[in-house]
Amino acid sequence: MSTSRRGLLAGAAVTPLLWTPPGASAAPPRGVHLVYGADARRTMTISWATPGSVARPEVEVGRDRGLGMSVPVRSTGSRRTGTVYHHATVRGLEPGTRYRYRITHRGGALRTGTFTTAPARPVPFRFAAFGDMGVNAAAAAHVALMNKQQPDLAFVVGDLCYADSSGGTGAGGPQTQDFATWDRWLRQIEPSARTTPWMTTVGNHEMEAGNGELGYDGYLDRFRLPGNGVQGAPVTYSFTWSNVGFVALDGNDASSEIDRNNGYLGAAQDRWLDRRLRELRADPDVDFLVVGFHNCVYCTNLVHGSDGGIRARWEPIFDRHGVDLVVNGHNHCYERSHPMRAGAPVVEAGRGAVVDSRRGTTYLTAGGAGQAVYPTGGLPLSYVTDEDGLRIPEATTYASVVENTHSLAFLDVTPRSAGRPATMRLTALATDGTRIDRVTLRRG
Ligand SMILES: [Fe+2]
Ligand SMILES: [Fe+2]
Repeated sequence: MSTSRRGLLAGAAVTPLLWTPPGASAAPPRGVHLVYGADARRTMTISWATPGSVARPEVEVGRDRGLGMSVPVRSTGSRRTGTVYHHATVRGLEPGTRYRYRITHRGGALRTGTFTTAPARPVPFRFAAFGDMGVNAAAAAHVALMNKQQPDLAFVVGDLCYADSSGGTGAGGPQTQDFATWDRWLRQIEPSARTTPWMTTVGNHEMEAGNGELGYDGYLDRFRLPGNGVQGAPVTYSFTWSNVGFVALDGNDASSEIDRNNGYLGAAQDRWLDRRLRELRADPDVDFLVVGFHNCVYCTNLVHGSDGGIRARWEPIFDRHGVDLVVNGHNHCYERSHPMRAGAPVVEAGRGAVVDSRRGTTYLTAGGAGQAVYPTGGLPLSYVTDEDGLRIPEATTYASVVENTHSLAFLDVTPRSAGRPATMRLTALATDGTRIDRVTLRRG
């Protein structure tokens, strides 16, 4: 790690001169959250919020309480809120190492925390997967469940806080927007996100009316993402953690159901996805490919059903590279498909099954992280939204487990070793910790 105090001074001139409410500088940093960089073994971004501008925001990082390394801080305001967001990216870290950090600003109370970098070589680990959280009692209980389960990271597939309740449609005008919701949400997730990186993707609710051409400016003001995805799409990225290659996509670019941002990247996202999956498959340390985005490829829930635009563009790419698991949200429920190839289930995978994921891709809907659960599953008939926005009925032979309940998914991953195959065991837990599903994907 080479960042020096000279670097801090060089990067410190960007603190915007915004209105500072009385007492803002005395308030402690709030909404602290962590995001891995493109190299999760060596880079971490620490982000937080203050109620207004503050003097000399600073992060110090080190292996022990002596800390030692100052990191440049970038600060930014955001539309229709006085809150200022601060981001500090730490580079040159050691893999598989626990670090302490300390956030301060002049006149304010300090905040401290810890994080751990991704390991240099494959090791067993756990990640959480979910979407559609919002600010509510169930969401808060899920943050507590996260801390009980202690995953190494969370893969969060959009519809984060619902600051714009119109969901990308813009219907209802400004009264559907309350950007202070972001701060409430960041405070809600902080007990987990200050020590466990939350790797987020956009949902339709991150398309905020008036917040930039795509609507993503509010999200990007608050999250510094790895930045190694599609050119012109900072909301896309990829990283490797142990033996899993993660790819975060922008489902809004391919959605037929909510077409506000449909096609804004042309074919660039498809080409990048194809290339990235090929690279990850060629990595001898990578066993599993996990792709996350918001809209459902396969879900029977009658509120949003399945998205034909996504299927048409990405399912052949998932098949080509043998993606093991696709994580979606959007439908506020839990649902898991049988492993799929070329649009059809290829093997029966009921609760408790152990399946070879080389045979097919499992599609997970993990949209039950807090928002009100959608009441109805569409078995045996649901629908897929086609390119004209029409709902085309279809038989739902792909569905294995359908639960209309709040839940989070946890994935326990074990690398292959000495002739034993790599495994990824999915356990879905209801809010109270009750198990509602389990399946084991095996490879090699
Ligand atoms: Fe949602
Ligand atoms: Fe959604």
